[in-house]
Amino acid sequence: MLVNLTNRAMALLLAGMLLMSNGDIPGCSSVTALALSQSSVSAVHRRNVVVVGGGPVGLATALTLSRPPHSCNVTVLERTDGDTSVATYNPARSYLYNINPRGLRWVDSVPEVATKLDDRGVVVRGGFGRFCIVPADPSVAIPEPTGVTVAGSPPKSQKRNTRATPSISKSVWIPRHQMVELLQECCEEQLYNDSKGVGSIQVCMGKEVASMVDTAETALPESQKGPSITVHCRDGSMYGADLVVAADGIDSAVRAQLRDPAQSESWLASKARSFVVRRYRSPATGLKLKALQLPPNFTMIDHDGTLVTTQAQNLYSIRGTNQGTRDFASLGLLPMKDPDMVRPANIITRPDHELWKLADGSAVKAWFQSNWPRLNWDEMVDDKEWERFVQAKTTTFPYCQYVPGSVVVAPNESAGVVLVGDACHAFPPDIGQGINAGLQDVVALDLALQDREIDLCQDSVPPSWSPSASAPTLGQGLLRYQRNRRAEHGALIRLARFGSPYQYRQPWIRDRIGRVCWSANVAFRLLLNKATFGWVPPAAILLAQNVNLSYRQVMRRADTTARVLQSTVLAAVAWLLVRKFSLL
Ligand SMILES: Cc1cc2nc3c(=O)[nH]c(=O)nc-3n(C[C@H](O)[C@H](O)[C@H](O)COP(=O)(O)OP(=O)(O)OC[C@H]3O[C@@H](n4cnc5c(N)ncnc54)[C@H](O)[C@@H]3O)c2cc1C
Ligand SMILES: *[C@@H]1O[C@H](CO)[C@@H](O)[C@H](O)[C@H]1NC(C)=O
Ligand SMILES: *[C@@H]1O[C@H](CO)[C@@H](O)[C@H](O)[C@H]1NC(C)=O
Ligand SMILES: *[C@@H]1O[C@H](CO)[C@@H](O)[C@H](O)[C@H]1NC(C)=O
Ligand SMILES: *[C@@H]1O[C@H](CO)[C@@H](O)[C@H](O)[C@H]1NC(C)=O
Ligand SMILES: *[C@@H]1O[C@H](CO)[C@@H](O)[C@H](O)[C@H]1NC(C)=O
Repeated sequence: MLVNLTNRAMALLLAGMLLMSNGDIPGCSSVTALALSQSSVSAVHRRNVVVVGGGPVGLATALTLSRPPHSCNVTVLERTDGDTSVATYNPARSYLYNINPRGLRWVDSVPEVATKLDDRGVVVRGGFGRFCIVPADPSVAIPEPTGVTVAGSPPKSQKRNTRATPSISKSVWIPRHQMVELLQECCEEQLYNDSKGVGSIQVCMGKEVASMVDTAETALPESQKGPSITVHCRDGSMYGADLVVAADGIDSAVRAQLRDPAQSESWLASKARSFVVRRYRSPATGLKLKALQLPPNFTMIDHDGTLVTTQAQNLYSIRGTNQGTRDFASLGLLPMKDPDMVRPANIITRPDHELWKLADGSAVKAWFQSNWPRLNWDEMVDDKEWERFVQAKTTTFPYCQYVPGSVVVAPNESAGVVLVGDACHAFPPDIGQGINAGLQDVVALDLALQDREIDLCQDSVPPSWSPSASAPTLGQGLLRYQRNRRAEHGALIRLARFGSPYQYRQPWIRDRIGRVCWSANVAFRLLLNKATFGWVPPAAILLAQNVNLSYRQVMRRADTTARVLQSTVLAAVAWLLVRKFSLL
């Protein structure tokens, strides 16, 4: 039964290949600014905020900071150009997000976003949705898809363990471009609706940020000097800000500048050492991903020759017949809302896989035909798609990385720079926390700038908040954010490295051994957890399903178990030695 449970855990984790490449184009409509009516801004000092990067986390920050009690004037600068995104479709950018309660905590703070997300995403409750592992051998029956939670559903007699590994109450699957699109819409609508006390949001496309300077150090005449920091774009345009939010992703240009020792005379680079990236290789680092587009509702041949129709909202893992270290492959499909959309099927494997060496469409087709005999490739995929697949660039999974620093503050504490999302921490998608960790940063920043305690463990946000008499300076708020995030991000990266790195069934021998050890570890901890009636916590990846725990608490509990185990082994060895010597 235990093995069974772990298998289910692994199956699910496999489903955590939360990636997909989508035939659609990332939505990048250009949002134009509309001036707020004079009445709503009069007599209010509005902080100027520049958000670098219009990805999901950047847009979320813009929405939060423009709303009360912050009511800032926000400008979002996004490198990609909304109008040309059609031509430069980037499959590497169209992942499928699974937004779980950690991320939903932010979503629920902006009701317009919550409504749209429920409407456009696949909402699943009590797990990740219905999942089906399709066996490679066509003579074996295709099982019915079943609901999965990470720990499997515990038998009634063991209900007390649900406390240690609860299933996620609700999560939403949505492709990245749709998430970005809906956030852009909310930014736009917020301007049109002109609600009371809300600052402006301007989303500027085609603006690649090159550098920032302290305005005080520029040669501009005093009268033309704007707010403290001047942000320069590659096209020569400039934007003034009191607060710069770096949401520009894993290769953050803002972060690069903060760590540039050549600029150390400016306060912007005064904390350069804390912005050196700490990166770690995980077993998922360096894996390559490509997606093949299958038709909606495609069918698979069952053992008795009948056809099984796939459902858009189910997860599938279709195993291949090859078993070698350079030819094993599995197709992964994630839930989609629209039953009429093409269905991307992911292949994620090591870079030396023989599939990557095939140079023309017909060779790839022949390879698929022999590896997945259950699918009628002649009917499903045309020559154009095979050719596209061959030409497409592979996406490579990154290192697990973070920077300990997340803010710099001007000496007078009235200006600063803050890092959120992938700019601060990035990792391969196996733990499915990328977007959720980013949205948690936004909630943490929200609370920190209000001088409130950063407690992300409760489900609900208190409805109202009134500013205290002694409002904190911007600098105090930012430092509060950094104190909270530093430890949290360190723990998050450890979770990313050890949580579930083998779920892609990487084919190397080393990977297979690693996966067995990893499963044994998870199974052993689960056994201990059950044997001690929940006293010993289960493995980190299962603990992480309790969304009331911070990443720090997750890792601390997992480490406690490790230490207890180590000391038990040491004590046993010591006892044996003592006995041996006393017998001598
Ligand atoms: C292969 C892969 C698969 C992933 N799959 C998942 C998944 O399934 N689920 C999940 O939760 N997470 C996943 N992630 C992680 C997820 O993509 C990120 O955590 C999430 O997108 C972070 O959002 P972000 O807004 O911080 O950064 P990004 O999404 O990277 O957005 C950054 C934005 O900034 C813009 N930008 C960059 N530089 C500049 C500049 N100099 N000037 C102006 N604009 C700039 C970029 O164009 C981009 O729009 C995956 C990551 C990878 C690499
Ligand atoms: C904020 O934006 C509004 C509308 O765009 C503008 O009228 C106001 O002057 C801005 N405030 C600051 C401090 O820039
Ligand atoms: C905001 O405006 C949009 C139209 O731009 C409208 O559809 C939406 O209902 C409005 N929302 C609120 C809360 O007024
Ligand atoms: C604070 O310092 C910044 C950076 O040196 C400067 O641009 C800004 O004018 C100062 N603000 C105040 C209120 O002194
Ligand atoms: C796929 O099946 C669903 C019902 O399961 C149906 O509503 C939809 O129209 C089908 N799509 C196509 C393209 O056949
Ligand atoms: C998390 O905490 C809330 C109360 O803050 C509680 O209702 C909920 O059941 C908790 N969830 C889990 C998984 O423990």
